[in-house]
Amino acid sequence: MPRKVNYGLDYDDDYDDNYDEYDYGYEVNENAETPPQKETIKHSVWRCSICTYDNDETMSSCDICGVLHGPLLNNSIYDKKRTANIFDLKSSRVSSTVVGRDEAVKVSSMRSDSSNQSTEKVQEGWLGHVDESSVAVNLRSSGKSSLSLMPKERNVMVDDSSSSRNGGEANSLTSNLENISFAAKSGHSNDANPGRAISRAQYKPEKWMLPEKAEQSLTQLNLAIVGHVDSGKSTLSGRLLHLLGRISQKEMHKYEKEAKLQGKGSFAYAWALDESAEERERGITMTVAVAYFDSKRYHVVVLDSPGHKDFVPNMITGATQADASILVIDASIGSFEAGMDGTKGQTREHAQLIRSFGVDQLIVAVNKMDAVDYSKERFDLIISQLGAFLRSCGFKDSSVSWIPLSAVENQNLVSAPSDFRLFWYLGPNLLDAIDSFQPPTREFSKPLIMPICDVIKSPSQGQVSACGKLEAGAVRSGSKVLVMPSATIATVRSLERDSEACPIGRAGDNIAVSLNGIDGNHVMAGGVLCHPDFPIAFAKHLELKVLVLDGATPILIGSQLEFHIHHAKEAARVARISLLLDSKTGKVVKKAPRCILAKQSAVVEVILQEAVCVEEFSKCKVLGRVFLRTLGRTVAVGIVTRIVEEQQ
Ligand code: GTP
Ligand code: MG
Repeated sequence: MPRKVNYGLDYDDDYDDNYDEYDYGYEVNENAETPPQKETIKHSVWRCSICTYDNDETMSSCDICGVLHGPLLNNSIYDKKRTANIFDLKSSRVSSTVVGRDEAVKVSSMRSDSSNQSTEKVQEGWLGHVDESSVAVNLRSSGKSSLSLMPKERNVMVDDSSSSRNGGEANSLTSNLENISFAAKSGHSNDANPGRAISRAQYKPEKWMLPEKAEQSLTQLNLAIVGHVDSGKSTLSGRLLHLLGRISQKEMHKYEKEAKLQGKGSFAYAWALDESAEERERGITMTVAVAYFDSKRYHVVVLDSPGHKDFVPNMITGATQADASILVIDASIGSFEAGMDGTKGQTREHAQLIRSFGVDQLIVAVNKMDAVDYSKERFDLIISQLGAFLRSCGFKDSSVSWIPLSAVENQNLVSAPSDFRLFWYLGPNLLDAIDSFQPPTREFSKPLIMPICDVIKSPSQGQVSACGKLEAGAVRSGSKVLVMPSATIATVRSLERDSEACPIGRAGDNIAVSLNGIDGNHVMAGGVLCHPDFPIAFAKHLELKVLVLDGATPILIGSQLEFHIHHAKEAARVARISLLLDSKTGKVVKKAPRCILAKQSAVVEVILQEAVCVEEFSKCKVLGRVFLRTLGRTVAVGIVTRIVEEQQ
């Protein structure tokens, strides 16, 4: 049965920004020093289309942002010959086409090179080169709660005496190449935090930590189901789970009966995921539900996200674990348009967010096709309008599949549609499209990192379990783990996946880790389980490189924002805007601007109200991606380029 992520109801808080006091005028400072040109692309490198980082030609994916070099489907189970083109199909008779139902549908018009020059494509290059340095702002630190917050060099509360730490060795590894990061590019040194220069590259995993080559088990795929409110995400997830035998007929009858009794008959499948009384009464998902099913290739972890705008923070917390995503669209007249609305719709916001989580493989499930008579024209219109937007977010056309379906009428979910009105569609069904995702790359041979999404406590038995996705490394029972930010060492007692015991958890697995030898109060959502020799930083003063999203309110020095990073959320103040960057090339446009406007990119320093577990993006992507929100909207996405000062 689905597990609800138990971080509570996280409604958006609003902050007052006195924008009126400021001059938004944006002038290019002609006196600003032009940084040395770094534009020349060397022969043996390829430039990432997303972050513009120049990768060595031997790299198959971008070293910085992880975007694949070649088109995804080249190696997919759908080879090039079998790839259908929806516009080719449009002009040919069904009987004369050679493409089968299980073939990928791609949109040729979206592949045009001209799209690369689209002015909308602001995200390209926003993580690009920065050649100026900035000055650190002194930090006034404030103590945090009753917990001892003592990362790495500080005292470590060792609940298990056999545990040891190895900071000395790690400190000696400062010259490792892994530390040539955004910080190095930006001309900053890491002097404020010499300890953070510990190299993970020197880590040697034990044999059991690496999967056996011969292991036949399915790969785990964390699949975020996202989209505008009421688009049918939970209904689709519930229907899939039922069709694949994860919800029994008896359970389904129970949901149907109860939903009908409450006058919410149409929500029967959604009730499988929406478990709380409030969710059921309001007919909306409020927290992410976690459920599991197996496809031919994957153990799929379904992360059914809330679509309502008030619960975007919860969506961020859950969907940040995604390896791939299904963006659910309501095809009904007016509903697709509502989702695309720049100010009120969540289709755009969710798409931007999941791309910023590093997700580059996407299925667009065009749901409720029954409500538009399975109209091909409606489907094509959605592809053309949403496709352009997805491209502007940085999704490659070749990595996006479009599936028309109806969750309520069970059309095109796990088998070919039976409704004749869908005769025009010859592509794969939803389950086949999930199987066509490329397996995610996993960091098996890096030290353990598991951001804690959820904590389950059983006070009667004195047990505490940390739940989340293992982003790097591996654990098994008996492993010692460092629990941050309490800096406490605990021993792994047992592991569970989908409510069943499992012997080893490896990178990519979504598991519950039951811990021994630790006070339950020292384990918290938003914390991180890590390797005792490679502690995660804990800081509140950070330098970020951010991109302000289209339509967002300006960000000013002094702006109060909500700062989201993995499963943590903190109030933040913009302490400094160091550089304004060209969002396409990453070049410095202006030093010390007064504000950052929509679609602009900048280097800023933020001071958080309380410290969070964090790493520079170049060292650990998942702990270095941030989202800034205000007034109920995501206003900027960014990466941590430097930890200005760690908590003492
Ligand atoms: P949030 O989680 O609150 O964002 O909503 P959701 O996207 O999970 O939508 P949910 O599954 O709760 O469904 C919302 C409504 O859409 C329900 O009344 C469903 O019955 C209806 N619905 C879902 N799928 C379909 C479909 O394929 N066709 C039709 N006609 N209605 C659907
Ligand atoms: Mg829902």
